[in-house]
Amino acid sequence: MIRVNPEAVIRWIQKQRLVLSGNVVINFRDREREITELSSDLSIGGVRVIYGPLGAGKTTMLNLLAKSLEVIGAGDTAIIYVNYEDRAANVLMPGGSSGGSINDLINKISITVMGTTISIGQVIGLAKELWRYVREFHGVDNVLIIHDDLDRWFISGGIGREAVQELIAMYAGEFEGRLLGTAPWGDKYVKVIVSVSDQTAVELAWKYRGKGGLLPMLLWNLPREAFLEVVNEVKDRVRPEVQVEPEVLWQLFGGNIRALMELILNYDWDVINWLGNVIGHIRNIAYREALLLNLPNTSALIMRIKSRIGDPRPDDVVYNALLPGEPLIEDNVLIRIVGKPLSQLPREEWVGEDYAYQLPAYYWVLKAMIIKGGIDVAAQEVLKELSK
Ligand SMILES: Nc1ncnc2c1ncn2[C@@H]1O[C@H](COP(=O)(O)OP(=O)(O)OP(=O)(O)O)[C@@H](O)[C@H]1O
Ligand SMILES: [Mg+2]
Repeated sequence: MIRVNPEAVIRWIQKQRLVLSGNVVINFRDREREITELSSDLSIGGVRVIYGPLGAGKTTMLNLLAKSLEVIGAGDTAIIYVNYEDRAANVLMPGGSSGGSINDLINKISITVMGTTISIGQVIGLAKELWRYVREFHGVDNVLIIHDDLDRWFISGGIGREAVQELIAMYAGEFEGRLLGTAPWGDKYVKVIVSVSDQTAVELAWKYRGKGGLLPMLLWNLPREAFLEVVNEVKDRVRPEVQVEPEVLWQLFGGNIRALMELILNYDWDVINWLGNVIGHIRNIAYREALLLNLPNTSALIMRIKSRIGDPRPDDVVYNALLPGEPLIEDNVLIRIVGKPLSQLPREEWVGEDYAYQLPAYYWVLKAMIIKGGIDVAAQEVLKELSK
């Protein structure tokens, strides 16, 4: 069984520093709750699919969790961490021991993930190979396999869904029928974590829920307090003179550090400019929604939402405004809340029971459009809405 002391992991992880860009280095923050949940979950067999908004911090947490377990130990656990987006692979053995078969394995993983193109066959081949190697690991009782950012790279190559689906189905099948909490594979206790961001991938994971103990788990953006600490930390480093409204930033970014960094590095803290880009994104989606609903134009779409629900709360948009969910989900505007939430979700208008906006800015933009009765809104009008 994989045994983890969450306090020790949290202590180690919170000492780590994160490089956001060349000269911006910040502290790792928060995640006590998530690490505690995940630590106790590691002692239960099965496959977990960790999903969450783009840039919520999945990779950062999983990568540091793997490293911390190597340092702290987790009851003789070998950890195989593969990141498909960075095309990086790492095999961490307790006590740093390594052997021929492990070097072989690293080579094997590297060859698969380093290629310029990757086929579904290679992904499945790699996963099967991992199973085979796991049996040959000597001196460990447990193996933790992490496939991080599984969907990202494949999506760009157009084979995302199939690869994610096959891999998840394969693992679910491997675990099916084995007693949870016992060594599920040979004499080794194996746990598999797959992380995905794309919402279509999450839908696939949801389809297989329960099979072989498969469970999707939601990792959310940082909570308000931790997010604002990061804002201050970065501001001090990058532009101490810049005036920021903490509440405005929270209402636009909702704790998403990736989006915050975009504002800082690509928009030089210019919220108006950044919002302009978000408005463009929502306008494009409005065109697609209007088309799907056979409406004559986007104004008809906005009026439809206005007359049915008024306020574009996430659950209402899907259930009561009866918008086709696909563009909203596919373009990562909304996220469907399924499975077990690892994080505590904020109690805000942009978070519902079944759906949430990945970035609150989307909610405020849509709201401003509804109030105006059309998609031509200015960033200032959006800011006015969220400051009410
Ligand atoms: N706990 C944290 N404290 C401070 N910053 C964090 C934390 N977790 C993540 N970040 C920062 O947030 C940004 C996004 O993190 P990360 O790449 O891990 O997200 P992700 O969910 O894996 O994204 P993707 O959806 O692209 O896979 C990074 O710049 C990272 O350094
Ligand atoms: Mg990631």
